[in-house]
Amino acid sequence: MRVDIVSIFPEYFAPLDLSLIGKARANGTLRLAVHDLRTWTHDVHRTVDDTPYGGGPGMVMRPEPWGEALDALVPGADGEPEPRLLVPSPVGVRFTQALAHELAAESHLLFACGRYEGIDQRVLDHAATRMRVTEVSLGDYVLFGGEVAVLVILEAVTRLLPGVLGNAGSLDEESHAHGLLEAPMYTKPATWRGHEVPEVLRSGDHGRIARWRRDESLLRTAARRPDMIAALPPRAWTSGTGRP
Ligand code: ADE
Repeated sequence: MRVDIVSIFPEYFAPLDLSLIGKARANGTLRLAVHDLRTWTHDVHRTVDDTPYGGGPGMVMRPEPWGEALDALVPGADGEPEPRLLVPSPVGVRFTQALAHELAAESHLLFACGRYEGIDQRVLDHAATRMRVTEVSLGDYVLFGGEVAVLVILEAVTRLLPGVLGNAGSLDEESHAHGLLEAPMYTKPATWRGHEVPEVLRSGDHGRIARWRRDESLLRTAARRPDMIAALPPRAWTSGTGRP
């Protein structure tokens, strides 16, 4: 997968050399480039923002550098498909595991990191005439800019790319894979500071273990995320027998 990120703070992306994302970059699974938006400014101050039309606090990112950045990074008519443009923003659609799966199937993602009060709307409107544009929100809170959101989105997407996770089975069992939160996990020792690992997990009885995990998963989800329980398809929480 090819990924381009445009930001006025390219230094934010240093962690993308670490851990499994760094490995995916090193082995070519992820072809990632970070670009400084100010490359596409032409004044001595390398200005990227200005006051909002209509008044109000804060500054808005000017369209010209963004227009030039997108022109430079969107492949021309050389047969390469257009990237999918992702703009992190508190007014975007909610980022979910389902969207992470959708993005993992793309061949080229282009992230535009806004700062201040956001990017001039015409940049997105113009981009939408030549590629798919999605504004994405991490949640109902406001960050300083899109950089941290890109780190989050990219980590969620990269771990879904084929070959990135050593054990692909963990993708199937993790939280959100089936609309529920994952059950608690334990490792050795069996007793630690007076706390025991639940007996069932040491029983070797795979049927009992699977039922225990499903029950814990449901209890946890009901307590912490009743919205996820409400979104389950009818009878998804039963064992298939019609009984819980
Ligand atoms: N930029 C500012 N706030 C954001 C949010 N909640 N999600 C994504 N990008 C953002």
